[in-house]
Amino acid sequence: MTQDELKQAVADAALAYIKPKLDADTVVGIGTGSTANLFIDALATIKGLISATVASSDASALRLKRHGIPVLDLNAAGKVDIYVDGADESNHALQLIKGGGAALTREKIVTAVAGEFVCIADESKLVRTLGNFPLPVEVIPMARSHVARELVKLGGDPVYREGVVTDNGNVIIDVYHFPIAQPLSVEEKINNITGVVTNGLFALKPADVLLLGTPAGVKTLYPQ
Ligand code: 5RP
Repeated sequence: MTQDELKQAVADAALAYIKPKLDADTVVGIGTGSTANLFIDALATIKGLISATVASSDASALRLKRHGIPVLDLNAAGKVDIYVDGADESNHALQLIKGGGAALTREKIVTAVAGEFVCIADESKLVRTLGNFPLPVEVIPMARSHVARELVKLGGDPVYREGVVTDNGNVIIDVYHFPIAQPLSVEEKINNITGVVTNGLFALKPADVLLLGTPAGVKTLYPQ
């Protein structure tokens, strides 16, 4: 199976996973990226079963609206019952690296509010130790050099993601060559650097369940 087929399989599995939990009051949080896009397309087939969605990026909001799926501002929604999103890496504790699509801050906000976080990914994303994928950090533009120097002190190799401006008007620094043995403390340390908006480690609030696409079928994994 190709990676795209595995992504389609997990998007379909996510729809099947959430469907029994839905009612006319349900607000579904929607992630960002190619896997989340396939989930949006699947959700369109049952859009009448939910109240609304909250999107983690302008791109996902646009895709939802094109399907005629209602999109609410998070403050207006007041809650997110269930959040479905992809990831760049997951370990077996379902701690994630996210932000390859530069949407990490809004993704983390939706995660913070969500009653349940369902992560969807193909099997290439499951790793023993996080950090092979470069860790994205969203940074206030004027703090870019300062934050980069601090990231070097933490042992990383920061690279400015040229030409990318986030939905919040900020820039992204990707931290290369940075194996993350202690995700909880690394998430906190990077967030404590002045000028950092947030970083792409989702360890303090990991996913609740991971639907993992494999050639043998979609596996349902819980934090270990
Ligand atoms: C966007 C993300 C995505 O979830 C992550 O990059 C995975 O993307 P894809 O589903 O395209 O592999 O965190 O900021």
